[in-house]
Amino acid sequence: MKNLILYYSRTGKTRFLAEKLRQELGGDLVEIRDLKNRKGPFGFLRGVRDAHLGSKTEVAPSSLDLSKYDLILLGTPVWSYGPTPAINTFLQTCNLMGKKVIIFVTSRGVGYRRAIDILRNKVEERGGKVIEVGSVKTWLRGKEFMFRAGVELARLWKTEIGVLKH
Ligand SMILES: Cc1cc2nc3c(=O)[nH]c(=O)nc-3n(C[C@H](O)[C@H](O)[C@H](O)COP(=O)(O)O)c2cc1C
Repeated sequence: MKNLILYYSRTGKTRFLAEKLRQELGGDLVEIRDLKNRKGPFGFLRGVRDAHLGSKTEVAPSSLDLSKYDLILLGTPVWSYGPTPAINTFLQTCNLMGKKVIIFVTSRGVGYRRAIDILRNKVEERGGKVIEVGSVKTWLRGKEFMFRAGVELARLWKTEIGVLKH
């Protein structure tokens, strides 16, 4: 019985959250990297456009063997009121058949419900079952805040994950 914590992060907030979730809940931690340049103001603008259009990108790792995991915690920042191109790309090919999935998003607080709905649909299209969701507002928040948010979310989700460990 194993958890996988899988996330994309451009500026580190989702990463801090994912790292804390891993510390609290155990399992493997894998970062999905976007091979397009997302740095600086042009990277930001390209990100807004690509997320808005739902464009695919190139990611690394490009595929993952999920067979040994029962629970996948999937984390992304909200971009253009939706998920990021990296996570959208991952969700186009992965096999989540029979997997329980927890979705967690970070954002400035705009469009996160829409992002979660889109993610939920994509996860279900791949055969996964969303059992919990979490959202953290990151505007002007730093590492310590994200760590505290990770502890809080893990506390909320522990009961559900505890059941899986039996
Ligand atoms: C290209 C881009 C688009 C974004 N769009 C939104 C948005 O629609 N709504 C929102 O609340 N925050 C938006 N944000 C802010 C991020 O979701 C937020 O800062 C997030 O916590 C960053 O996570 P990260 O540090 O893991 O990359 C956007 C950020 C970027 C770079």
